Amino acid sequence: MDNTPVTGTSTTPAALGLLANKVAFITGAGRGIGAAAARLFAREGARVLLAARTEDQLQAVTAEIRAAGGTAEYVVCDLADAAGVRAAVDRAVNVYGRLDIAFNNGATIQQPGPMHQMPEADFDRLYDVNLKGVWLAMVAEIAAIRTTAGTGAIVNNSSVGSLMGNPELPAYGAMKRAVNSLTESAAVTYGPEGIRVNAIAPGNTATEMISTWEKGSPGLRERLTAHTPLGRAADPQEIAQAAAWLLSDRSSYVTGTVLRVDGGARA
Ligand SMILES: NC(=O)c1ccc[n+]([C@@H]2O[C@H](COP(=O)([O-])OP(=O)(O)OC[C@H]3O[C@@H](n4cnc5c(N)ncnc54)[C@H](OP(=O)(O)O)[C@@H]3O)[C@@H](O)[C@H]2O)c1
Repeated sequence: MDNTPVTGTSTTPAALGLLANKVAFITGAGRGIGAAAARLFAREGARVLLAARTEDQLQAVTAEIRAAGGTAEYVVCDLADAAGVRAAVDRAVNVYGRLDIAFNNGATIQQPGPMHQMPEADFDRLYDVNLKGVWLAMVAEIAAIRTTAGTGAIVNNSSVGSLMGNPELPAYGAMKRAVNSLTESAAVTYGPEGIRVNAIAPGNTATEMISTWEKGSPGLRERLTAHTPLGRAADPQEIAQAAAWLLSDRSSYVTGTVLRVDGGARA
């Protein structure tokens, strides 16, 4: 990753992909937005390392990327396991010799309901996976980028639900808002050495996470669509596109931002 100013005025079409020559680590890459990101990043020229807990899903996405001519490996990793997270990030360096970019996308959802009904264990699980897991991954990624590529970029997957009260998913919303804070703090801390850190805040995206939420909250999809000016859910790859841009050199002057990718839901 080159974080020096991009001043090119050439009109020659780019021959390489957006993420050419980069090594990317992606959490939650077995399905949904993370799988879409792994496919997209590989199409854009990155060598990718996919991480999540469910091996058969990782295997399937990895095989798909390879069949399309991309370079992919996977590592089984639970974001709630500190040693496992560090080992997963190290794997990128062991397999590909470097780390340039990371998409901290893996997360879990809680049982919907008001906070007084939420079991304490649920709060702890959301903290472990959705907040502490992101912190653990970022710290390991920054160390790996420093010792290999030198400079790079990280994107954390937050949520539009981090930007407002989230009465149905209070712990989820709280952890995601804390992810925004970690993102901004990291951007300030590591910007001087050329490591950019941003977050994306997706709105309603057609994945298993929304299906799980809807089971506990019937009519959810219709309610979300009614509050989305673009009038539909996002396809996972539309979210991945925003992450790809933030991880690419095209966003070389963007750090510390939380970019809404929400069809206008929060406008
Ligand atoms: N879908 C939406 O509408 C929406 C909106 C805003 C933000 N987001 C965010 O987008 C990201 C991706 O979500 P998605 O919608 O694609 O959901 P998804 O389809 O449920 O995918 C979640 C991914 O995270 C992984 N994961 C969950 N718990 C994990 C753990 N403990 N350790 C490691 N990996 C874990 C899952 O794999 P395993 O279960 O195999 O580990 C899976 O690969 C999340 O950060 C989510 O909060 C989604």
